[in-house]
Amino acid sequence: MKNFISARDISNIEAMVQKAIGYKADPFKDKALGINKRIGLLFLNPSMRTRLSTQIAANNLGMDAIVFNIDKDGWKLEFEEGAIMSGNTIEHVKDAAPILGSYFDILCIRTFPSLVNKHEDYSELFINQFIKYAGIPIVSLESATLHPLQSFTDIITIEETFKELRKPKIVLTWAPHIKPIPQCVGNSFAEWINAWGKADFVITHPEDYELDTKFTDGATIEYDQEKALEGADFVYVKNWSSYADYGKVLCNDSSWMLTTEHLAKTNNARVMHCLPVRRNVELSDEVLDSASSIVNLQATNRVWAAQAVLAEILHSVN
Ligand code: CP
Repeated sequence: MKNFISARDISNIEAMVQKAIGYKADPFKDKALGINKRIGLLFLNPSMRTRLSTQIAANNLGMDAIVFNIDKDGWKLEFEEGAIMSGNTIEHVKDAAPILGSYFDILCIRTFPSLVNKHEDYSELFINQFIKYAGIPIVSLESATLHPLQSFTDIITIEETFKELRKPKIVLTWAPHIKPIPQCVGNSFAEWINAWGKADFVITHPEDYELDTKFTDGATIEYDQEKALEGADFVYVKNWSSYADYGKVLCNDSSWMLTTEHLAKTNNARVMHCLPVRRNVELSDEVLDSASSIVNLQATNRVWAAQAVLAEILHSVN
């Protein structure tokens, strides 16, 4: 694996899930793999889970990890080719990325979308410019449109939790939020569940909240949340802003917040969320604090997902 940006970078999801579960059982078994290798974690936006779990994963593999909050401590980067830099950007990515490429063996980047310029966000300009100019493997810690380490973790968590000899019914449900949120987690979850191909997959959201079909094709779209939740084994709760009316909040209907009443329609479903979560806006306290919630297991599994991905990259660069 050269870069890790989307589900398309994984040739065999099942094999990667088993690799991650192997690291969970024995975290230090490949401690020698990353000796004398250095990983850079570059943040253009905030993070808790992604930042810490990726650092721990790198340390488990023997790597040195350096975090750089470029949004706070670095120069403001320009990404447009041919830009006349007379505005507030100070350093072009084509100057910064090769330098970072000379400091590190792997570069990980978190960069959120603008939610203003749909074309630029969906072209993944920022992360693609790092791929173009850094000259080393690039790992997405959440990009403008996708959050692959989160979605890989989610599949690990579903496989670990569901032991029946049939396909689980997985429902991705939109939830209310107070402000515009990227589509990344929803896009990515849809992309990975479709690529995994081992579930009956339903997405439910209000009308005009359709995600990009390049990620959702293969899923059943159901606007009636109650109907969608019937018989669900897993309910993944997430807000996103409109893709069609790009970045806009079109609905704040609190009846979409997942409560125990919603769960009554399911097959004793496990409830998932990537975190951080707005309690009693997206999900009720009652659900989050119940045995149905597996959000902490998801967050814990972030380490093993990152470790499996970094190990694959190290094998390809060693
Ligand atoms: N789920 C997730 O990516 O969490 P952080 O934003 O805290 O990294």
